[in-house]
Amino acid sequence: MCGIVGFVGREDGDVALDVVMEGLARLEYRGYDSAGVALVCEDEVEVRKRAGKLANLTAEIEAHPLPASRTAIGHTRWATHGGPTDANAHPHRGGTNGKFALIHNGIIENFHALKSELADAGVEFASETDTEVVAQLLAQTYAGDLTKAMRDVVARLEGAFTLLAVHADQPGVVVGARRNSPLVVGLGDGANYLGSDVAAFIGYTRNALELEQDQIVTITPDSVEVIGFDGTPAQGKTFEVTWDAAAAEKGGYDTFMEKEINEQPQAVGDTLLGRTDESGALSLDELRIPEEKLRQVDRITIVACGTAAYAGMVAKYAIEHWTRIPVEVALAHEFRYCDPIVDERTLVVSISQSGETMDTLMAVKHARDLGALTISICNTHGSTIPRESDAVLYTHAGPEIAVASTKAFLAQITACYVLGLYLAQLRGGVHADNAGQVMSELHEVPGKIDQLLHTMGRVREIARFMADTRSVLFLGRQVGFPVAMEGALKLKELAYIHAEGFAAGELKHGPIALIEPGQPVFIVVPGPDTPHGLHGKVVSNIQEIRARGARTLVIAEEGDEAVVPFADEVIRVPHTSPLLQPLLTVVPLQVFALELSTAKGLDVDQPRNLAKSVTVE
Ligand code: F6R
Repeated sequence: MCGIVGFVGREDGDVALDVVMEGLARLEYRGYDSAGVALVCEDEVEVRKRAGKLANLTAEIEAHPLPASRTAIGHTRWATHGGPTDANAHPHRGGTNGKFALIHNGIIENFHALKSELADAGVEFASETDTEVVAQLLAQTYAGDLTKAMRDVVARLEGAFTLLAVHADQPGVVVGARRNSPLVVGLGDGANYLGSDVAAFIGYTRNALELEQDQIVTITPDSVEVIGFDGTPAQGKTFEVTWDAAAAEKGGYDTFMEKEINEQPQAVGDTLLGRTDESGALSLDELRIPEEKLRQVDRITIVACGTAAYAGMVAKYAIEHWTRIPVEVALAHEFRYCDPIVDERTLVVSISQSGETMDTLMAVKHARDLGALTISICNTHGSTIPRESDAVLYTHAGPEIAVASTKAFLAQITACYVLGLYLAQLRGGVHADNAGQVMSELHEVPGKIDQLLHTMGRVREIARFMADTRSVLFLGRQVGFPVAMEGALKLKELAYIHAEGFAAGELKHGPIALIEPGQPVFIVVPGPDTPHGLHGKVVSNIQEIRARGARTLVIAEEGDEAVVPFADEVIRVPHTSPLLQPLLTVVPLQVFALELSTAKGLDVDQPRNLAKSVTVE
């Protein structure tokens, strides 16, 4: 959701504003409905804010320059309470003397009650946001110590929040607080930083400090002090960011998404790295869960949202096949409400790129309350979901900046395969003997994705040709089914085109009524060696829709000639074993959505209404 940056240095100058604006540019993927900054200057706090993208804020600052300062906070917003207007943009002021400003990520659930209380006391509000209520409360509570005021205020808040506040009477201080919403500290030399994630300050320092739940942090140029909401001194956990600023830049590509699609061979390769020992056996010491406990698992539930949930659907086919443990995939936001059957022998695997998705976090907490063993598959170090889980298996996709997920999806699938094969090896599952062979095949996949990426010219042409298309359908079976769903999701979110993914076998049970002459349909065809004659069945599905006039865009393995007579277009992918196919078949669908969005002149990296990290339920 929203992106948050804070900075404090030793000298007054332009640095504070520059750091915060650069941080906002890196965090804009988290929300781009409005942006704003507050700088502590002389006796008051100066605020500039504007609805719309960061460029609008930059123009506003050019039109109304800010004085020199050493203390600044900045915010980029994904609107929840109150539309995306200038007035609702953060920072929000509290009180009437212009000395105080606050920014917020999250939702204050009891803001109505607090607002009425403040209104009864004569406070007037300038916006419709829940954030301003906190700002006003903090201004009322302030009695010379911002950290103390923050402590008193958070005790009254319900919901999820990261808050950053500055006060003109305490120049050189930024106070932050977090509950169920991300905040990390960047440790500099004579300067310190706060950010929703490390991207906020990666241009300045790679040394960072993780905060726990329900903690308050006070930064000055030379100190970082952490306390719990109850005032108990605490120490965060320091870590070093393993990627540098260049990884969070476009590196010559027009868009982050294009760069990230091209980074997929590395994302898969890096996620496989270091997960086998010298003998080739899978070795996941990083899980730090006694093997005995994992051997006892008799049921697996995967919780995730969106693209991550499709990675989970792919995982279900693979893990069940390799381990013979029943696997269920639950959309994280539905999990709690279906009275899940979970006990201490259930392994709940959460999948999340950001590690901050509130729906997934709440599902993990619920699973833990029910006694389940929880493992998080996550791409972001220092994020909340791994911290709330018993163990974490990191994906190594590097920072994913484009709002639509691509390389994280492939890395998530890869990590799920690794976990499935490890469980099979531990339990001596019926297919455990093959774990080594599957791992060798997986190691060949990055090269195959690379090869595939070099053949995307025709896919791009097809996409450009289809820029005016109003509806596209996607079909797949077995692991191709989640790939079809993911292809449809990418097209919806990037090109704003109606798109639906179906299990191809379901077609005859209703959706085939949608087929009319010219209807474009992508079909993800399983390899000819897929068991149970599945390949032939999908070829029949293609024939059925072609006979009704569909324009068939077929994704099939090299050498699969059976599809040719029924395909308007054949998009070839290299051969791999059936369960690993999604790592290849999804790539043309990502490129198709990217190119179609570009052809329509849309913002590929920041599609409308979306945010990268959904930190509200
Ligand atoms: C789609 C997309 C989303 C995310 C979902 C979960 O392109 O990116 O559907 O996959 O919001 O996000 P994470 O993985 O951060 O939990």
